[in-house]
Amino acid sequence: MSQPLRVLFVCLGNICRSPLAEVVVKSVAQEQGLLDQFHFESAGTGSWHVGGGADPRSASKALEKGLSLEKHQAQQITRRNIGNWDIFVAMDSDNRRNLIAMGAKPEQVVMMRAFEGAAQAPDVPDPYYGGASGFEDAYQMLKLNAQGLLQYLQQCKQHSC
Ligand code: 4NP
Repeated sequence: MSQPLRVLFVCLGNICRSPLAEVVVKSVAQEQGLLDQFHFESAGTGSWHVGGGADPRSASKALEKGLSLEKHQAQQITRRNIGNWDIFVAMDSDNRRNLIAMGAKPEQVVMMRAFEGAAQAPDVPDPYYGGASGFEDAYQMLKLNAQGLLQYLQQCKQHSC
């Protein structure tokens, strides 16, 4: 078995969207017996929440769906650690732009919502300042794209992206 592909889910704060994306995609990968092909983590482009837990609204959304963010510890992606990852899964176009500015190659960055058939992938909107429905919406978007993303990541592993 080759080395696991190192995949980082990225949002702004690493407390709402990307931690939820990480556990949603991990659970689908586990259901499909794909977990040992990948190393999944998540990070934010901002530093505000480093070392802290997931936003309680994301954590309870995860629990409601049979997942857990109990052990999540927010971390930051920077120029210094960007070389630790093969692929970045960006929640929105700002995240994508920031990753490329830090030195990620454009072909290393995939949009989380790239698998819905839209000509240009929409953002997973930031639910941080909104109400509870934003977290359910985010969950549905993540779940909808998880299978397509895993197929894409398997292709990345076999050939390249
Ligand atoms: P996330 O949401 O990027 O989905 O984790 C946010 C969390 C915190 C902040 C912004 C967005 N903040 O400004 O602290």
